[in-house]
Amino acid sequence: MSALADKLTEIVGNVFEAAELPQDLGLVRVSDRPDLAQFQCNGAMAAAKIAKKSPRDVAADLIARLEADPQAQSAFSRIEIAGPGFLNFHVHDAYLCAHLKEIAGDETLGVERTGQDKTVILDYGGSNIAKPMHVGHLRSAIIGDTMRRVMAEAGFKTLGDVHMGDWGTHLGILFSDYLRHDEADWIFKLDLSNPDAVQELFDDLSERYPQASATAKADPDLMAEAQATTLKMQRREDPYYAMWKIIRDVSIIGMKANYGLLNVHFDLWKGEADVHDLIPPMVEKMKDQGYAIPDEGALIVPVKRNDDTKEVPPLIMYKRDGGVMYGTTDLATLVERMSLYAPDRIIYVVDQRQHLHFEQVFRAARLAGIVPDDVELIHAGFGTMNGPDGKPFKTRAGGVMRLGDLIEMARDKARQRLEDAHLARDLFEKEREEIAHMIAVAAIKFADLQNQRQSDYIFDLDRLTQFEGKTGPYHLYQAVRIKSLLRKAAREEFVSSDIAPDALTDVDRSLALLLADYPSYFAASLKHYAPHHLCEYAFKLAQEFSSFYGVCHILSEKDATLRGSRLRLCEMTLRTLERILGLCGLDVPERM
Ligand code: ARG
Repeated sequence: MSALADKLTEIVGNVFEAAELPQDLGLVRVSDRPDLAQFQCNGAMAAAKIAKKSPRDVAADLIARLEADPQAQSAFSRIEIAGPGFLNFHVHDAYLCAHLKEIAGDETLGVERTGQDKTVILDYGGSNIAKPMHVGHLRSAIIGDTMRRVMAEAGFKTLGDVHMGDWGTHLGILFSDYLRHDEADWIFKLDLSNPDAVQELFDDLSERYPQASATAKADPDLMAEAQATTLKMQRREDPYYAMWKIIRDVSIIGMKANYGLLNVHFDLWKGEADVHDLIPPMVEKMKDQGYAIPDEGALIVPVKRNDDTKEVPPLIMYKRDGGVMYGTTDLATLVERMSLYAPDRIIYVVDQRQHLHFEQVFRAARLAGIVPDDVELIHAGFGTMNGPDGKPFKTRAGGVMRLGDLIEMARDKARQRLEDAHLARDLFEKEREEIAHMIAVAAIKFADLQNQRQSDYIFDLDRLTQFEGKTGPYHLYQAVRIKSLLRKAAREEFVSSDIAPDALTDVDRSLALLLADYPSYFAASLKHYAPHHLCEYAFKLAQEFSSFYGVCHILSEKDATLRGSRLRLCEMTLRTLERILGLCGLDVPERM
């Protein structure tokens, strides 16, 4: 199944083909002049160049063919030439209603299941153990988890992997610091079944790491010591490795709590360390193949190509001290993923600034035959989340904002907004708190998802928690309004019925056309790993519904056919809205 425009494309494309013109020029899309037409096709202009005729002649010929075509007859009520040779279309109301009925009968509301029998791994989250999770990891989690849900909706078998940073120098810095201050014992004595002890370690880590990191960066000797410590950890020597295990377990508890609050889900809780043992055999093989070569005591994989327009440095496999790098673990992770899951595609939802890193890793993986050509490797990068000052988002004190604090702030704002809008007043405290949390999470996630993935955006808590505008709370509120309307209808024992072609007024039709277009927005999101298309659609739908609701009688409608038809439109709007919010990992309250 697909969007209504896709069906029309098929009809028009066939007619182009019959006229010996390229079928793909018959692309029909929703008109950008709804005052003139419902759908349009711009292909006659390009076709005219091929046929060496005037665009209007080609368009007139196509219209004559369409008018004689039985399928086109059943779909189109009007076909016109506009401007230099655009084809403008209107469809029969009965055709529109039949399409909506089909969509309504489909669980996923007509989206094309293009992913069936395909497995995809999505790598997102990417938090680092021992470091507090910060807003930098927020975008990865939000976009990645949404893409996972979108791909599952399209029928893909999806595996979301958190791919923790748990094997790098930041741990050497930390462990050296504990040992230097004689505080390692304290860690070993902690009883991690006790939540207070876990909290104590969290608090200690969040203070210690930034300090230790700054000190080590300023002192080459300390940094050298930290690197030596990292190497010992990577060799699994105690006490470093024992410390690593404790810190890793505790960090995972924290990550699970944070991601849980955001309703972000992972199928795999793996990290860089998990693939350590795969590195030596991988490297040996790459040495034998001649791809990995010694270079001043290090081991590197040159990945540059003759047609590179900018420099692509070699991937470093082993540093001079024998330590492994970020790229090494990413490459070994590919070895593991290929052997355990045989995916058709692997998507990395990681900061755009790591683009070069992924270019290097992907090239090395192709060279060494770790990932065959028919498996797609994609870096779906994203821009920076900035504060209202246009610089990367920080706390008032200038530090890195922690995820937990951010959610807390958003929840405070959400409570305030509910209060100001006189909402959720009569509910018990517990339910009101749940609603405030849903609003907070919707505000944060929607603000992120609605932007083009690659662009930076400004995180403005005041704006994005509002109930008006293109915000998460606005969409929750609209969905809740429809829910309440449908509850009232149920109390009156009003039932919905098929959308009736004879009962369509302009506003009904406009809403119906938009509902019929949902699968095309879904498809755009899927194709470009770009959730903003879904958000754009949700906003349009919510606004269109508001216009509909503003002018149409629904519960007060006396004509039962019209009322039933409108109730069905309400139901479909709610279903579509909830479906999209669900793909964004957002829950909708029953009331507010
Ligand atoms: N831990 C990394 C960071 O904080 C992100 C990991 C992304 N995933 C990957 N496979 N490299 O920057």
